[in-house]
Amino acid sequence: MKVTVVGAGAVGASCAEYIAIKNFASEVVLLDIKEGFAEGKAMDLMQTATLNGFDTKITGTTGDYSKTADSQVAVITSGVPRKPGMTREELIGINAGIVKDVASELIKHSPDVTLIVVSNPMDTMTYLAHQVLDLPQNKIIGMGGALDSARFKYRLSEALECPSSDVDGMVIGGHSDTGMLPLTRLATRNSVRVSEFLSEERLQKVSEDTKVGGATLTKLLGTSAWYAPGAAVSGLVQSIICDQKKMFPCSTFLNGEYGLNDLCIGVPVIIGKNGIEKIVELDLDYSEKAKLKESAEAVKKTNGLLE
Ligand code: 2OP
Repeated sequence: MKVTVVGAGAVGASCAEYIAIKNFASEVVLLDIKEGFAEGKAMDLMQTATLNGFDTKITGTTGDYSKTADSQVAVITSGVPRKPGMTREELIGINAGIVKDVASELIKHSPDVTLIVVSNPMDTMTYLAHQVLDLPQNKIIGMGGALDSARFKYRLSEALECPSSDVDGMVIGGHSDTGMLPLTRLATRNSVRVSEFLSEERLQKVSEDTKVGGATLTKLLGTSAWYAPGAAVSGLVQSIICDQKKMFPCSTFLNGEYGLNDLCIGVPVIIGKNGIEKIVELDLDYSEKAKLKESAEAVKKTNGLLE
């Protein structure tokens, strides 16, 4: 099974690396517009094959979309990343044009592809892909919630002073500093609600730290993060390629689910060989519903900036 990753920058290369290390895809094609860059990243990664024990073949190309033909999954990471102090929304102008072109090129060579959009502002870029492509709704997935949930679990494990593997939790809503909705009420440590162990105040801090998870790293690194985004994407790709039917919060087009319409926003979905196979409707309480609605309004406002 072939996977294309467009953008060989830090996030794209990290996606390719995790997909290869997990050893479930036969081929990963890395594509970038910078001359020789994707080829170089692919070669470097291939030289880790014997060291890391994978058989996935990674190739690189400078802008030749014919090399991506018949991909089952394509990941769009291209565009400019944010710099310290910038919001994801500020990237819309430049990234919208890039995502539009990349998505259209991909579809020409892989008409049955399932697309995973990572470029920011991600919910709006996912919505844009829905607008410009003739692809069924289930085949366009925005990656944000899987990453935000991993950051949430990290913050919860820190507060609980326990390993992350003890913790379960999910973040829904828009992939933005203010739009994320970490579901603290439903988060658990080995099936016990985390509110049994943490005060309301501590949970509030976990929630706030989660929401600015990307911004915190951007400030520390000088550019946006890549390991966790790459790992989160690889989990979605694996669930599609291996038809795992795992549940992840992903940005998906809503048609009345959660009382929302005509936008893409993060809600739990089941991911399998057909992309988004089901949207899971959670029984949110009054305040969670209000926050999701507020987040949706902000996403729609950003969507309104698309030409
Ligand atoms: C993040 O680090 C890539 O949006 C991205 O949150």
